[in-house]
Amino acid sequence: MDTSLPVVRSVCDLRARVADWRAQGLRVALVPTMGALHDGHLALVRRAGELADRVVASVFVNPTQFAPHEDFDRYPRDEAGDSAKLASAGCHLLYAPSVRAMYPDGFATSVAVAGPARGLCADSRPHFFGGVAVVVTKLFLQALPDVAVFGEKDYQQLQVIRRFTRDLDIPVRVEGLPTVREADGLAMSSRNAYLTPDERARAPELQRALSAAAAALAGGVEAAPVLEEVRHRLAAAGFGRVDYVELRDADTLEPLTRADGPARLLAAVWLGKARLLDNVPVAAG
Ligand code: PAJ
Repeated sequence: MDTSLPVVRSVCDLRARVADWRAQGLRVALVPTMGALHDGHLALVRRAGELADRVVASVFVNPTQFAPHEDFDRYPRDEAGDSAKLASAGCHLLYAPSVRAMYPDGFATSVAVAGPARGLCADSRPHFFGGVAVVVTKLFLQALPDVAVFGEKDYQQLQVIRRFTRDLDIPVRVEGLPTVREADGLAMSSRNAYLTPDERARAPELQRALSAAAAALAGGVEAAPVLEEVRHRLAAAGFGRVDYVELRDADTLEPLTRADGPARLLAAVWLGKARLLDNVPVAAG
C-alpha cells in the first residue's frame, strides 16, 4: 500500500499542483473533510475518483463552525493516519492548511445563507452554517475543482452548500453521496468515538426509528404522531435530548406536515457526549 501522499499547506502550493493537472487536461475533484477519517469519508474519495482524474482531499478542523463551548479542542486529529487512509482510497493530494493560513489576522468576511440553512441544526448551532459556508467557499475558490463530493449524512449541510454554490455562481459541481453505515445501521461519524461501549450498542436505534417512521410517512399520513413515536422510541432506548426530529422538503428543506412530495426525515439527538445526526429519504405519498 502506498502511504506517501503528497501534502500542501498553502493556497499557493495547492494552486500550483492543480494548475499542473489542468495543463495536462485532467479533471479535478475536491473532498473537504475535518479529518479523523472513516470509511464514509473514504467512500467520498472513491466516488471523487470516478468523477475526476485527480482527487484532492482537504483536512481542516474549521474553528469558525464550532461555538466556544463545543468540541473544537478535543475533535480527534490524526494527520498521519488520515494521510495513509486517503492514499489507500486513491487520493492524489492532501491539502492541510493551518488555521492561520485560512484565517489570517484581520479576516472579516462572512457568507450568510438563509433558505435551507434555517432551523434544524441551525437552531442548536446558530454559528454552524456560517462557518461551513465561509470555509467551503474558500476551499472551492482555492482549489477551483470541477466537482466536489459531500455526504448525505450531513444532509442540511449538503443542501446549504448546493444553495450558496448556485447563488454565488461558483463553477463547481456539488455531488452528494448516500450515508455510509456500520453493519448495524449506525451512520459512520468521527464523533461516534465519543460513545461508550454501552451507548454504542444502543446507537443504531436512531436509524431503526427513522427508517420505521419513513416507511409510515411514505403513505402521506400526518407527520406529527409519527415524529412523536420516534421521540418515544429514542427515550425508551436511553437517548438524551432530542434537538430535532423533522420532516422536510428533500430539496428546499421547507417544513412539511406530510410527505406529499419528495421528503427527508432528519434528526439530531444526544447520546452521552455525542450528538448523533442522521436522516433518511421519504418517498412521496
Ligand atoms: P466532516 O464531518 O469531516 O465530513 C466530511 C464529509 O464527509 C462531509 O461531506 C460529510 O457529509 C461526509 N461524511 C461524514 N460521515 C459520512 C458517512 N457516514 N457517509 C457518507 N459521508 C459522510 O462535514 C464536515 O466535515 C465539515 O463541515 C466540512 C464540510 C469539511 C467543512 O468544514
